Formats: sequence, structure tokens, C-alpha cells
Amino acid sequence: MSISSSSFPSFPRTIVSYTVTTSLFVVIFLCSVFLFTRRTLEPSLSPYHTDIPLPASDPRPSTPLLPPIEHHDAANVTVETNPKEEGDSRGDDVAVETELKAVEDSRMEKNKLGEEKGSSSGEVSVESNDESVDQAVIEKMRGCDLYRGSWIKDDDEYPLYQPGSCPYVDEAFDCQRNGRRDSDYLNWRWKPDGCDLPRFNATDFLVKLRGKKLMLVGDSMNRNQFESMLCVLREGLSDKSRMHEVHGHNITKGRGYFSFNFEDYNCTVDFVRSHFLVREGVRANAQGNTNPTLSIDRIDKTNARWKRADILVFNTGHWWVHGKTARGKNYYKEGDYIYPKFDATEAYRRSLKTWAKWIDANVNPKKQLVFYRGYSSAHFRGGEWDSGGSCNGEVEPVKKGSILDSYPLKMKIVEEAIKEMQVPVVLLNVTKLTNFRKDGHPSIYGKINTEGKKVSTRRQDCSHWCLPGVPDVWNHLIYASLLLQAHS
Ligand SMILES: *[C@@H]1O[C@H](CO)[C@@H](O)[C@H](O)[C@H]1NC(C)=O
Ligand SMILES: *[C@@H]1O[C@H](CO)[C@@H](O)[C@H](O)[C@H]1NC(C)=O
Ligand SMILES: *[C@@H]1O[C@H](CO)[C@@H](O)[C@H](O)[C@H]1NC(C)=O
Ligand SMILES: *[C@@H]1O[C@H](CO)[C@@H](O)[C@H](O)[C@H]1NC(C)=O
Ligand SMILES: *[C@@H]1O[C@H](CO)[C@@H](O)[C@H](O)[C@H]1NC(C)=O
Repeated sequence: MSISSSSFPSFPRTIVSYTVTTSLFVVIFLCSVFLFTRRTLEPSLSPYHTDIPLPASDPRPSTPLLPPIEHHDAANVTVETNPKEEGDSRGDDVAVETELKAVEDSRMEKNKLGEEKGSSSGEVSVESNDESVDQAVIEKMRGCDLYRGSWIKDDDEYPLYQPGSCPYVDEAFDCQRNGRRDSDYLNWRWKPDGCDLPRFNATDFLVKLRGKKLMLVGDSMNRNQFESMLCVLREGLSDKSRMHEVHGHNITKGRGYFSFNFEDYNCTVDFVRSHFLVREGVRANAQGNTNPTLSIDRIDKTNARWKRADILVFNTGHWWVHGKTARGKNYYKEGDYIYPKFDATEAYRRSLKTWAKWIDANVNPKKQLVFYRGYSSAHFRGGEWDSGGSCNGEVEPVKKGSILDSYPLKMKIVEEAIKEMQVPVVLLNVTKLTNFRKDGHPSIYGKINTEGKKVSTRRQDCSHWCLPGVPDVWNHLIYASLLLQAHS
């Protein structure tokens, strides 16, 4: 992955005109396909997107901009072999009333950010034609499945930041500081089979984000990724003190909203907690107690914030388990009706449709870019997350076995939902690459061994990831996707 100074302007004329002719041909071809099928073009056609800014209100479905999505034989369905999941074992629950405060905060911030250039005026296309990344590497990524590949030991490029060096890693993910001794897990980089990821360049990533708001929305797995994002971008700052949480908050699992400003780049990176993406609520029972409900036909209350982002990264999944959804009893709600009993998988499917509808109605694909980060695998041995399952002592990735082929039903539901959307969504299809990484979880190192705390009953965390670690690679993949955008 060498860095070359070659760039578009120096390409021979013949290549340029060849490219133009080819593109024209392809565009015409695609238009006719589009007219015939009357369907939204699927993301595999993305590289040929022409980036013509449209008025904000233009309802036309856009041509997707994104890397190809593979269409596998629908008959070849691998059912989740190991559906062990954990929610956030550390009680991420929020009181509803904090939402009210949050809306206030957001209004204040909106005024502030409204003055910034870029975030309100431009299209989503990130700065292109940069000379910092080898064009050949980017061209080779086109048509390459970035998510099929293997982990390569590379202590030159990885870790992207030194363990213990980043103040935004919260205790739960700070494995080295919490006493984890082995360090091989820090040095793996992801290598797609058919191409290379461009070398991670934090400064360049920040340049691509200039004037924009990047927002991660989801559960604690997304907070995990958010903290990683702050840390990998921080490496691009020459003065590392020039990033701040806009309201001065430290990252804790108790808060559901953070917004970090990178002052030198006029960009912000936010996290908005939303476990289900649809609306959590409560109902009062006859005894006057309240029980939680989930309105699967209504978008989550935090959606007002989502609209303000230029780049969105969603996830949900780990909370869709029996234990966290009242065993499906008197929990799922549509309209005013609370189902006495309802199937979690069907609820998940309907909720993703609710989410998809919201995206189609509220996101302008000319200005905004939407990612959905796929399910992140857990690795519990000998039990579930709440019944003594463990993953400590794992010091290297899985090399073979059925877990590598496990692709959860939830992911198939996500793919289904995305396919029917008008707004193109980039699926960060990380499930498989996480399948390998049984060595990447905090296990017993999700906490400092402090005096006074009972250690014996401690649950192991085999769901989240140590930082530095696996989520850095997810963010590397976002960087790679942005480069593809910029050059399409
Ligand atoms: C189904 O998938 C498995 C594993 O991915 C593969 O080995 C097999 O050839 C596939 N079968 C078909 C019919 O595509
Ligand atoms: C990283 O990106 C910056 C900004 O685009 C560029 O100036 C720099 O040369 C790049 N660094 C490397 C090592 O490629
Ligand atoms: C955030 O953490 C730092 C260092 O741990 C501490 O000095 C500071 O008071 C904390 N700020 C808030 C608002 O809690
Ligand atoms: C950030 O924006 C402010 C005003 O909005 C401007 O003065 C400043 O030059 C910008 N900084 C960068 C690095 O673009
Ligand atoms: C995502 O990756 C899995 C393999 O882990 C593959 O079966 C699936 O087709 C991929 N989905 C997309 C949309 O590329």
C-alpha cells in the first residue's frame, strides 16, 4: 500500500477519454435498466453515480454511490448456528426524562452548528482528487468485496493508536489498562481477498469529514465503535488537545448522547444511543407499576438528532433478545395495541422497516450518507452471557470452524430491508470478520480489579471489543468507503 503522488490530472488523455466513454455507455445502460425495472438501482451499480446536486426537496431516488453488494443464492441459507447474544450487560438503560433535556441540548447545538459552512450547504460528496492515497488502490477496491478476506498480522499499521493512549476509551474497553497481558490481538489488520484497504490515514479521514457531522446511532456496540472513531481520528491531530465534547461531558455508559468537535476541521463526531432504533415506552399496569414497551411502528424519539448528521452509522441487534424484551409478553406495540405475545424476529423485521421508511422520508441521499453496521459476533464458551459463558484466555483469532460461516438471520433481515429502500445504504458487512475474532473481547478485562468489588460473580464480556481492537477496523472500512465515494 504505497503512497504515490500520481493523481487524476496526470492520467494520459486516452485513459481519460476511454473512461468517459465507458462511463457514458454504462450510465445509458443503467438508465434503461432503471426505466425497465422501475426499481431503485441496487448498490452494486454504485460506482457509476454522477454527483449532481439536487434541491433538498427532490424526491427522486438517487443512484447509489456504494461498493457492490453480493447477491448470494437465496437457497443457500446458513442459519445462525450459535445465536448467543448479549445485550449490554452493564445496564445501559436510560430514563425517558433525559430525552427532554437532550432535545434542549440539541437545539442549542443546532444553532451553533448552523453557522458552520459545509454541513448545511453542500452535498455529501467528500473532497476528492486528493493525492494522499494511491489511486490504483482505490480503483482496485471497486467491485471487490471488502468483507470477504482474512486477518493479517501487521504490527506496522496496527494498532492505529497505542493502548492506554486514548482518553476516550472507557474503562469497559480499556483491556490493557485493566490488566490484559497478551497483546497479539492488537496487531491484526483486515485484508480483503480481492484488493487491499488503503492504508489508514487519520488526517486524510479528518479532511474528508471537514465541515460535516458524523453520527453513530445504536446500542453499546456502537458506543464501542464511536470511542474507536474518536481515537483513530485523534491520531490525525497535530495538537491532540483540539477536540472537545461540546458540553464538556466525559464518556460514561449512563449518558445517551455525546458530541465531539474537532476544532481544526470544523467537524463533529456524535453518538446517539438508541437500542432498538424504534420507540421505547412504558405502560402502567393495574397495580400502578410501569412496564417497558416497544413501539415497532414508530421511530425512536432521538430521530430529531439523526436528521442533522451528514454521515450516519446505525446498528441494532444485541438488544433483540428475550431477556431484554420482556420475553415478548405485553411488550411489542403497534398503534395503541400491545401484543400479549409477539415474536422477536418478526418484531425486528417490522422495526427495521419502520427505520427504513424513516430513512427514505428524511434522508437526502445527495447530501447525506447512511451506513448500517452489521451484526457483531459474540464468542461465549460454555454458557450464555448471563450464565457463565467465557472467552478469557483466547489469544488468537479462530482459524476454521462453523462459526466462521455463521450469518445471523438478523443480518438477512437487514439485507432485505435495505434492498427495498430508495435511499442507498452502505452495509458495513462486518459480521464475518468479527466471527474470526474470539480473541478481541474484553472477557474479564472489562473492569479494573478494584478492591471492594466482588470479583467472583463477574460476568465476562465476550460481546464488546477491546480498544484498540476490532472496531478500529470497522472505522477503517468507513474510511475506505468514503474514499470510494470521493472517487466515484
Ligand atoms: C453454500 O454455501 C457454502 C458455504 O458458504 C458453500 O460451500 C456452498 O458451495 C454453497 N452452496 C451453494 C449451492 O451455493
Ligand atoms: C495523509 O493524508 C494527508 C491529508 O490528505 C496527506 O497530506 C498526507 O500526505 C497523508 N499521509 C500519508 C502517509 O499518506
Ligand atoms: C472528566 O474526567 C476528567 C479526568 O478524569 C476529570 O478531571 C473531569 O473533572 C471530568 N469532567 C466531568 C465533567 O466529569
Ligand atoms: C472553521 O470555521 C470557521 C468559521 O466557521 C473558520 O473561521 C475557520 O477557518 C474554519 N477552520 C477550518 C480549519 O476550516
Ligand atoms: C455479507 O457477508 C456474508 C458473509 O459473511 C455474505 O453471506 C452476505 O451475502 C454479505 N452480504 C452482502 C450484502 O454483501
